[in-house]
Amino acid sequence: MKFFLDSAKIDEIDKAYKCYNIDGVTTNPRHIMNSGKPFLKAINDIAKWVKDNHLEGKDRFPVSVEINPHLDSATDMVNEAKKIAKISDNFVIKIPCTLEGLKAAKELEEAGIRTNVTLVFSPSQAIQAGRINAMFVSPFIGWKENNGEDTYAYMEELTNIYRVKQYKTEIIGAAVRSGKTIAELAELDVDIITCSLEVLENSFTHPYTTFGLKTFTEAWDNTKDN
Ligand code: E4P
Repeated sequence: MKFFLDSAKIDEIDKAYKCYNIDGVTTNPRHIMNSGKPFLKAINDIAKWVKDNHLEGKDRFPVSVEINPHLDSATDMVNEAKKIAKISDNFVIKIPCTLEGLKAAKELEEAGIRTNVTLVFSPSQAIQAGRINAMFVSPFIGWKENNGEDTYAYMEELTNIYRVKQYKTEIIGAAVRSGKTIAELAELDVDIITCSLEVLENSFTHPYTTFGLKTFTEAWDNTKDN
């Protein structure tokens, strides 16, 4: 299972890559807003970071960038996606899972522009992303959890459908909020998870590891003739 970082902040991307070996980045308009930069500046800075770290290339380190959410016709979405895709070979264009969005994503994939069908909240929506051969599909998990929904059953159904139908589209478990969900998604053999730096860092640690280390250090120091 690959790990992507959900952020548009260069310091976070840099840390997650250097310390936690992430495989890619996902952004959305909220992450861009939180970066404190205008959209074009934020995505150009990420493209520069990719270049500076020798990660450039269509088949390496995908960076998902979302189109302007105001766009609601397939034609406008395609035109905007084409402009964004020109900035970096690593960019994968996030298109919302609407009727017009799916039409746009199909046209983009056929034109060789990779897409990430986003804002997916049901297996039936995910099927459409698979049918049009999108590069990625992003079922949002944390948002459904907030709503009290059973996300394990949701992801189990979705991954089973993808397995049976043999869709090539890679599944990104998105908006992951905990280590528990990371483990569940790994068990379900989801291709990728994306989460914030905080969730990523927390997933590497456990209070008992810290406690155990302290306990063993004390034991070491109190061992006769050490
Ligand atoms: C994923 O591609 C999305 O950007 C992301 O997971 C959305 O959720 P969040 O911003 O609420 O974490």
